[in-house]
Amino acid sequence: MNTPGKLAVVPETESNRPSTILIVDDKKNILTVLEAFLTQEGYHVLTAQGGREGYRRAVQEKPDLVLCDIRMDDMDGLQLAAMLRSQGLELRFVFITAFATVQGAVHAMKGGAYDYLTKPLDYAQLRTVLQQALSKPSDLNSDDHQIIGSSPAMQSVFRKISAVSASNVTVLIIGESGTGKELITRSIHAQSRRNNERFVPVHCAAFSPALLESELFGYEKGAFTGAESRKHGFFEIADRGTLFLDEISEVSPDTQVKLLRVLQEREFTRVGGTEYLKVDVRLIAATNRDLGALVEDGSFREDLYYRLNVVPIHVPPLRERRSDIPELVRSILEKTCAREELPVPEVDGETYAALDRYHWPGNVRELQNIIERVVVLHRPERVTVDMVIDELTGSAEHPIVRSGAEERDAILDALRRAHGNKSDAARLLGLSRRTLYYKLEKHHLTGKEL
Ligand SMILES: Nc1ncnc2c1ncn2[C@@H]1O[C@H](COP(=O)(O)OP(=O)(O)OP(=O)(O)O)[C@@H](O)[C@H]1O
Ligand SMILES: [Mg+2]
Repeated sequence: MNTPGKLAVVPETESNRPSTILIVDDKKNILTVLEAFLTQEGYHVLTAQGGREGYRRAVQEKPDLVLCDIRMDDMDGLQLAAMLRSQGLELRFVFITAFATVQGAVHAMKGGAYDYLTKPLDYAQLRTVLQQALSKPSDLNSDDHQIIGSSPAMQSVFRKISAVSASNVTVLIIGESGTGKELITRSIHAQSRRNNERFVPVHCAAFSPALLESELFGYEKGAFTGAESRKHGFFEIADRGTLFLDEISEVSPDTQVKLLRVLQEREFTRVGGTEYLKVDVRLIAATNRDLGALVEDGSFREDLYYRLNVVPIHVPPLRERRSDIPELVRSILEKTCAREELPVPEVDGETYAALDRYHWPGNVRELQNIIERVVVLHRPERVTVDMVIDELTGSAEHPIVRSGAEERDAILDALRRAHGNKSDAARLLGLSRRTLYYKLEKHHLTGKEL
């Protein structure tokens, strides 16, 4: 029989080259075995020993798929995926795990571009899973961009979104915490001509000033102690795509100067470098502060402010568009229940009335957390006012679960759903980060057990 060879079944990328697979594992012998197998299958194979190395190679080489061990000494595989994702690298992942509990965590990961295999590895299964994974598009999240809001205030936001999506204009999104600024930004990118290119979100407040500068602009080998090789910054990574600078008010004066220069000249140098690099990046910035006031008191550069504020989009707080609440509740219930594999409960009128009276300091995110918590904790057939009232009046420090074992389970569950991100897990639980740390200690958890 004429066998066309295995090469024929290896999914190819659009440019007809074999797919590139990055294998990440902290055990050298496993890397060697898998590399030999996948090379024989016709893939272009890269290997990385451990999560850190995996992160570096993934950012540099942008493989079509990452085949990744979950338990690694330096960095957990789920954490690696979450880190890459937070940098706008929506890579397909296939995890290798020995633990049934982890399978749930992988399932729960956002995006759907994830799959897993259990140890001991079955090579026939590996072959099939890889083929399937590579044949689905890597970004399955378009549904996640759905912005809900029939209120006149949101309708006006939608009109602005459509108007700016078609162009490359710089947009400044202004709104309180949890109003949907990131969601709106992603939606602009998704509707723009750049939607096949990267969306790179940068949380400016999460980096020290020096670190933010080298993350944004990259650095040359030897630029400072520890700069062992050249690093591409977010501006380079986002080339042809969209760069989202979140919490722009937190950028230091020095970096503000550098940002201004990129916006004016469309070029920059890496830290420690002299070469001018040109990039084609669409910039969207967001803030929950009054940038105008920061300009007045001298902490934000006026010239940069005008460069960023080309088209402002003001996102109204939830308390000013209360008519959106029922629709938001239904949508959150549907999504949460689908994820938890539960039937969607009814919501009684009294519950809506209570939600309507609340002042929503945390906006849509707070509403989402409350509804998710109600679903997970009560698995209700009907959402009653009692289930939500505690959450509404309770302070952020209010303990949401009673017994120790229940609390421990709830914490683990939240960590899983937050992909190990403690801030997100704390938010899901309605606790401050500090309280979560205290509780982790109390239950002898490190936060790494997924
Ligand atoms: N109009 C909306 N429709 C549906 N979901 C929404 C809407 N607005 C916000 N959300 C959801 O609420 C959560 C918070 O939104 P997002 O992260 O975009 O807010 P943000 O303004 O960036 O908040 P922060 O200032 O705290 O970063 C997200 O899970 C988002 O999907
Ligand atoms: Mg945000």
